[in-house]
Amino acid sequence: MPRHLALLLPLLLLASPAATRLASAACAGEKFPAGRAYASCEDLPKLGASLHWTYDASKSSLSVAFVAAPAAAGGWVAWGLNPTGEGIAGAQALVALAGAGAAAPAVRTYNITGYVPLGKASTPLDFPATDLAADAAGGKIRVYGKLQLRKGMKAVNQVWQVGASSTGGAPDKHAFQADNLGAKSKLVLAGKAPAAAEAPSPALAPEAGGPSAGGDSGAGASSSTAPSKSPNAAVPAAGVSAPALLALALVGFLAAVW
Ligand SMILES: *[C@@H]1O[C@H](CO)[C@@H](O)[C@H](O)[C@H]1NC(C)=O
Repeated sequence: MPRHLALLLPLLLLASPAATRLASAACAGEKFPAGRAYASCEDLPKLGASLHWTYDASKSSLSVAFVAAPAAAGGWVAWGLNPTGEGIAGAQALVALAGAGAAAPAVRTYNITGYVPLGKASTPLDFPATDLAADAAGGKIRVYGKLQLRKGMKAVNQVWQVGASSTGGAPDKHAFQADNLGAKSKLVLAGKAPAAAEAPSPALAPEAGGPSAGGDSGAGASSSTAPSKSPNAAVPAAGVSAPALLALALVGFLAAVW
């Protein structure tokens, strides 16, 4: 019994904020231009950013809109998938740099291979990117793109970032606050469909909804939370802190060159 509780507590701690987040789902209120609609959205845990996406599993193609406010007007926003690690090295990134005046933001792609500053020229991604575009609305920059993923990908690390300025068309280094360094998570492509009503761990639903809020956050929120948390992430969660700290330190180091 106590052992169960001990296991359950960290799960609840993990699940409750996520459930609350999804229940309030600020991202769901985003109004995109006509012709841009996405099946899923997620308020990312840091930097006030959100990701909107549609994953076509039959084609392994991922359409995304990443939304974030640059750290200052004239700055940049970036989002990427990292198929090889948790940090920035290896990220396949879409970057949008604020345009001058009313000009649309400029979109770049960067295959971030290591600890070198990004140039002003795009580099090809491991996930070929098409339909690149960006716009600015309400102080935020929205980057659009379609990535050709590898067949069978189910979940992949994502990273995102915001910066305050660009020089000569290349993004300048960003800040090193905790939010900057913690801007990473796992994007779950499979099992995250809006209709994923049958949560694999129904035991979490009443628990997660109960203490955090009233009745309305229960069913809807936890059903979409469970698929991303339960299969792999939830169980080893208790042991994650040490590696996570290491990764954080690594990200901090890598971030120096962004
Ligand atoms: C991206 O960078 C990695 C590491 O240098 C390299 O192996 C890979 O071929 C690059 N991908 C593309 C599409 O250039």
